[in-house]
Amino acid sequence: MSDSKRKILVTSALPYANGPIHLGHLVEYIQTDIWVRFQKQRGHQCTYVCADDAHGTPIMLKADQMGKSPQELIDQVSAEHQRDFAGFMVNFDNYYSTHSEENRQFSALIYERLRDAGHINRRTITQAYDPVKNMFLPDRFIKGDCPKCGAKDQYGDSCEACGATYQPTELKNAYSAISGATPIEKESEHYFFKLGDFEEFLRNWVNEHVQSQMIHKLNEWFESGLQEWDISRDAPYWGFEIPDAPGKYFYVWMDAPIGYMASFKNWCDKNGVDFDEYWKEGSDAELYHFIGKDIAYFHTLFWPAELKGAGFRTPTGVFCHGFLTVNGQKMSKSRGTFIMAETYLKHLRPEYLRYYFAAKLGSGIDDIDLSLEDFRYRVNADLVNKVVNIASRCAGFIKKKFDGQLDSTLANPALYQEAIELADVVADAYEKREYGRAMREIMHLADKANQYIDAAEPWVLAKQEGKEAEVQACCSLGINLFRVIISYLAPVLPEVAEKACEFLNIDTLAWEAIKEPLLDHQINKFKPLMQRVDEKVIEELIEDSKQSLAAQPQVQAVKPAAEETELSKEPVADTIEFPDFAKVDLRVAKIAKAEHVEGADKLLRLTLDLGGETRNVFAGIKSAYKPEDLEGKLTVMVANLAPRKMKFGVSEGMVLAAGPGGEDLWILEPHAGAQPGMRIK
Ligand code: MSP
Ligand code: ZN
Repeated sequence: MSDSKRKILVTSALPYANGPIHLGHLVEYIQTDIWVRFQKQRGHQCTYVCADDAHGTPIMLKADQMGKSPQELIDQVSAEHQRDFAGFMVNFDNYYSTHSEENRQFSALIYERLRDAGHINRRTITQAYDPVKNMFLPDRFIKGDCPKCGAKDQYGDSCEACGATYQPTELKNAYSAISGATPIEKESEHYFFKLGDFEEFLRNWVNEHVQSQMIHKLNEWFESGLQEWDISRDAPYWGFEIPDAPGKYFYVWMDAPIGYMASFKNWCDKNGVDFDEYWKEGSDAELYHFIGKDIAYFHTLFWPAELKGAGFRTPTGVFCHGFLTVNGQKMSKSRGTFIMAETYLKHLRPEYLRYYFAAKLGSGIDDIDLSLEDFRYRVNADLVNKVVNIASRCAGFIKKKFDGQLDSTLANPALYQEAIELADVVADAYEKREYGRAMREIMHLADKANQYIDAAEPWVLAKQEGKEAEVQACCSLGINLFRVIISYLAPVLPEVAEKACEFLNIDTLAWEAIKEPLLDHQINKFKPLMQRVDEKVIEELIEDSKQSLAAQPQVQAVKPAAEETELSKEPVADTIEFPDFAKVDLRVAKIAKAEHVEGADKLLRLTLDLGGETRNVFAGIKSAYKPEDLEGKLTVMVANLAPRKMKFGVSEGMVLAAGPGGEDLWILEPHAGAQPGMRIK
């Protein structure tokens, strides 16, 4: 069944050391952990390493803001991350930090090799500089008015109101988000990695090592040309100083992937493993990176090019996954669906989520949705009612009537054979990361096992005389089928698997072990392996999530005083992709109240009822409506627009209206049957 023993090194992306782990992250770590556990169960030499991504400006500023040193911050966050991962049974062989001696050495080595081979350029660039903080400003830390639509307080790279992208120098009324000062322009010499040197290599490489769904995106990048990559930042910066350039530091994304090597090296040294065997050019070990599609550019272009240029092996595969949505929408703090790992674990068992993600994951890059209703239903229906039920229906009879002794033969060898023949199908699905397919196959088998027990009716036989042997026979087969199913589910449900081993009185779930059924074998007392998920618990989780986030320290951007935002000129939006549109939360709203606003000639103040929740919104529709005509009407609002402070108060959303303007402006009115709060799809 299994190919000869493989040497496999697996990584997940290194989480930033400035925020907590949330359920979105966990898609990746659970996906990877399942794959690694599967490989280990198959008997391969598989090592899973990760680390905190500990460098960069946001971490430096956050530490500053919290009155801590960066080292103190990253130590604290690392402990929290490791606690959360352990809570979800993500079983790293090594968890390290990019701020480590090994990483400093590898970063220097790779840089020097690239430099000596002529792949590094130096040139002077002009950048925004904060004259108060005395530092260069990354794009994310410059804010101002959008050059296209005029929206206030937009980031230096893109506008959240109209979606335009631009250079930070194009912002109007720009200010530093750190000090509030007006940025000045300043020159500095930067170091660049000449990605273009590797174009031909990369064009071939990606075709063999990246999912086909991703290739399309990659081709776009090739079409627009591989730009030189700026790998240096000026002091003050939290990171590694570039060896031959005092005052210059490696940009965080330069040393982050090298952190994979550093974490592995650290593990090798502790375990007496030869690092070079895995990383030298031409190594026969396999190397896989699991990442989110948002960071594909770094992993499918820069990273293999750097490795190639520095004379190391390149990855065997880069596996991208999609993003998590909750109840069909982006995770939202106000809706309580931005759920942190820690909060989840206070209410629910980790294996529920591991199973749910497994059931939904495929090998592609599509986003995956956690529908909390579906989550509860699936866990209860599949794990509790189907899988665990097999054991609980059979165990009692074996224990009570036969002293825990299983039968010496299989009642239905063909059925058992069918069950173990599924091993190859399930293994193939796991190997290809088609976990959804694996879960469907396994649940199908669980259905068959239950049908077998239903038909055999041991509870009826047990009451009849002379049917003892039949009871033992069918319950023994039931328990053997349960063992096969648990063996298949073990990568997903490690704790259930461990408890099942105690119950079954076996010490291994090695992939091949099920070939030998348990005959004449003594089992232990059955203890319930899993409880149902209660609807109330989900509600409590949502409530708790709203509260926990309020307690999280946020990096605050300092904004200059907000003035009245007049209804801005019509934004001319570029084409957007469907996922951008899907972010807009459109709701039916009832206009509970409409009032004039003292001193405003275009605005009306609307109190909107969203079915339980009310919002205060300023709408520029005074020219077309009298307040009294609006009250009681239904309209459509954008419910997830960030609140905006205006001269007259905070506006918490936007109503939709169409028309050329003036008197000719009409608010959108849904059909009278619509209910306030309904989502518009
Ligand atoms: N520090 C970088 C990675 C450096 S790897 C050399 C980073 N960190 S992160 O904390 O923002 O994200 C870590 C991983 O979690 C990334 O692969 C990212 O795609 C993934 N996810 C973060 N939020 C996610 C969702 N909402 N859904 C699915 N995956 C998400 O990026
Ligand atoms: Zn804009």
